[in-house]
Amino acid sequence: MSPGRRLGLHLAVPLLLLLASCAPNAPQDTLRPAGPIARTIMDLFWPVFWIAVAIFILVEGGILFAVIRFRERRGTPMPKQVHGNVRLEIAWTVVPALLLTGVAIATVSTIIALAREPKGALEVTVTAHQWWWEYQYPEQGVVTANELHIPTGRPVLLTLESKDVIHAFWAPKLGGKQDVIPGRVNKLTIEADAPGTYLGQCVEFCGLSHANMRLRVVAQTPEDFARWVEEQKQPAAPAPSGPPATGEDLFVNGACAGCHTVAGTTAQGRVGPNLTHLASRQTFAGAIFDLNRQNLMDWLRDPPAMKPMQPEQGIGMPNLNLTEDEIEALVAYLETLR
Ligand code: CUA
Repeated sequence: MSPGRRLGLHLAVPLLLLLASCAPNAPQDTLRPAGPIARTIMDLFWPVFWIAVAIFILVEGGILFAVIRFRERRGTPMPKQVHGNVRLEIAWTVVPALLLTGVAIATVSTIIALAREPKGALEVTVTAHQWWWEYQYPEQGVVTANELHIPTGRPVLLTLESKDVIHAFWAPKLGGKQDVIPGRVNKLTIEADAPGTYLGQCVEFCGLSHANMRLRVVAQTPEDFARWVEEQKQPAAPAPSGPPATGEDLFVNGACAGCHTVAGTTAQGRVGPNLTHLASRQTFAGAIFDLNRQNLMDWLRDPPAMKPMQPEQGIGMPNLNLTEDEIEALVAYLETLR
């Protein structure tokens, strides 16, 4: 291969990789913040980024210039040496020190500003489990999973706790990233300007289904949020007679109740997500599947096939070997949990 072609190949591969990271629809794009907290982070990111770009161009440009201009050629004399030039040494010590001091001041003051607990915030306790998120609204008395509802225009103070291993909470458009560590309580504030569904996920490797531990933040106008809270506070509607009643019976008196809660019934398990208002959610199983009849049927037929589990450690929903009739009855019941 000629040197020219080899160089072309070496440039083409990284360029293709770079292009592969471009997407017209990027719901987790941190570069497009959708709330004041995320904007504060961007206001720090851009100046630091452009300073780094300028230094990169200056330093790499200098190196390239020296490599080409002073390369060894026959008959050229040794170029003038600058080693020991006091003025240059001072300049390239002082300038970076000043730049780094500036970056440090901006960074530390942003960290302090973001760590301050805002006044009038909605408080939500976020508990990370392998592999799903539990949200408790202590003041409202609401418990839900994976989809965090918040009102727009109001800071939301998250208290982050873990039931098992280290996870990390991140909804890129609404705020920063925060580790969720067992035995420790971490705080994170997020806020959304406008109603919408903002995607996020667990960003700390936490086992087999780490990639399936996603989350959504559903931002609603304060009125819609209040309505949602009222609905979530209700116990589950009693199932009408017919197949759903059979489903309820299977659920409440079978294995499901050992792990799941449906408020208003005797199912009070705390191992898996609270399902009182499951049918009001967009997704299930760590926010990875759209909530619809087909997906729920497939899920009940063989959960570990849909989302890798660690059954030997008792983590995740096991295959209960349900019959098709039982699956149908259970799904019919779950669909009533609005
Ligand atoms: Cu939880 Cu990764």
